[in-house]
Amino acid sequence: MKSLFLLVSASLIALVSRTGSVCLQDDAAPRAAARAVAAHIVGPGDCEDCHEAEVAALEASWHWKGFSSILGNEQGREIAKAMGIAKPKKDWRCLRCHATPGLKKETLTALGGVSCESCHGPAEAWMDLHDDYGDGEKEEESAQHAAERIAATVKAGMRRPDRVHELASACFDCHVVDDRKLVEEGEHPTGEGFELLSWSQGEVRHNYMKTDGEKNLAASPQRRRVLFLVGQLVALERLAPLVGSGTAVGAHAKSLKTRRDAAMAAVTKAHGLLGEASRLKALVSALHGPEGEQSDGKRVASLAKKAAEYYGRSEDANLAPLDIMLPKDVKGQPAR
Ligand code: HEC
Ligand code: HEC
Ligand code: HEC
Ligand code: HEC
Repeated sequence: MKSLFLLVSASLIALVSRTGSVCLQDDAAPRAAARAVAAHIVGPGDCEDCHEAEVAALEASWHWKGFSSILGNEQGREIAKAMGIAKPKKDWRCLRCHATPGLKKETLTALGGVSCESCHGPAEAWMDLHDDYGDGEKEEESAQHAAERIAATVKAGMRRPDRVHELASACFDCHVVDDRKLVEEGEHPTGEGFELLSWSQGEVRHNYMKTDGEKNLAASPQRRRVLFLVGQLVALERLAPLVGSGTAVGAHAKSLKTRRDAAMAAVTKAHGLLGEASRLKALVSALHGPEGEQSDGKRVASLAKKAAEYYGRSEDANLAPLDIMLPKDVKGQPAR
């Protein structure tokens, strides 16, 4: 039971997307994946009791608002038509990235747009664990209890802010459009512009914890470096296996390759700036190693994942040399 749960809760769309580029002929596979996850989703309404400011920020963002407008607008209808989809707001070939799945009277339904659990993981199994401090208040919690509590939430599928690799992976599930037909026939955006630091610090930002809901704080300088570097590493992890070694043919393949190459250049430059002590060494040698190695997408992905896990949890690594690489703009306006 447990392992089945972890399998289905790991990610809404991993079941369809990790296998490489897909070309979905009908909505059976994404519908089944959504159905498996839906039973474990509680919905943002249940977070609101304790996270009012975060929910308000979500509701002001395109992630939430886009659902009611985007799929049904002219562009949405055109994309759907080219795909042979009559009702995009009901079809899980679209909803798997544009909506949060849930159950209403046992029937699979879209609860709304992208929401808390799209990124932090289906919460049914971890919601009651993550703020359970034992007998007393948070301030009185022992270090051992805190460590056990955190480990239990991770095991139950929570993607925590202090494990950036896992959280960033959620973004890439949707922001790498893996369905070739969607891009080539539907002319749907490829997701190319996505960059973790700038896209997480604009309208998506909801850092209210330190001020108890009062202020939406900007990420610290160190946090910004971590988000940037992990974002590039996860891009490489996801795109390298999709690109493969052949020549890129078609708009979809070309876009994947462009993104892979950009992430490769960024990681190489970061390694140069961080110097010999960097944990990127093995990855960078694989990227620039003997003929054939770079095209081994699986090996690149596994080294990129390792580096992303390391940097995603190391708040004290010296990453200051990366500052010259960090984007200055953010995507959208942060909520108040
Ligand atoms: C009963 C109150 C309560 C509910 C309901 C609740 N949370 Fe929390 N949440 C908290 C508290 C308290 C913290 C701070 C934990 C800490 O500082 O260790 C927190 C922290 C978090 C964190 C940050 C974790 C960390 O340790 O940095 C995330 C992410 C989170 N909650 C997501 C959610 C989501 C998503 C929902 C709804 C599915 C939700 N929470 C529902 C009380 C709640
Ligand atoms: C479940 C799929 C999904 C996940 C997970 C996801 N996104 Fe999105 N994102 C979308 C979709 C779909 C849109 C387009 C707007 C809409 O319809 O909601 C979007 C839009 C955005 C936008 C607005 C873009 C614009 O043009 O203004 C930002 C910023 C963004 N996402 C950042 C992120 C970040 C950062 C993460 C991870 C921390 C993330 N997203 C995770 C699906 C997702
Ligand atoms: C793999 C995830 C994914 C799937 C599947 C998907 N979308 Fe999207 N969609 C996105 C993301 C991410 C964005 C935001 C793109 C960006 O800003 O980079 C988006 C944006 C859009 C937009 C706005 C485009 C714009 O330029 O503002 C429309 C319209 C849209 N999607 C329609 C659809 C329709 C219709 C379907 C189903 C036929 C669909 N999408 C399936 C991820 C997806
Ligand atoms: C698009 C993906 C995404 C969505 C949707 C999302 N989060 Fe987050 N969340 C993140 C990321 C990424 C971070 C870490 C941000 C950072 O470090 O700047 C985070 C951080 C947090 C934190 C810690 C903030 C702090 O002050 O340290 C809490 C609490 C939280 N989220 C709760 C929620 C709740 C509740 C919702 C729904 C109302 C939600 N999140 C929706 C991606 C998301």
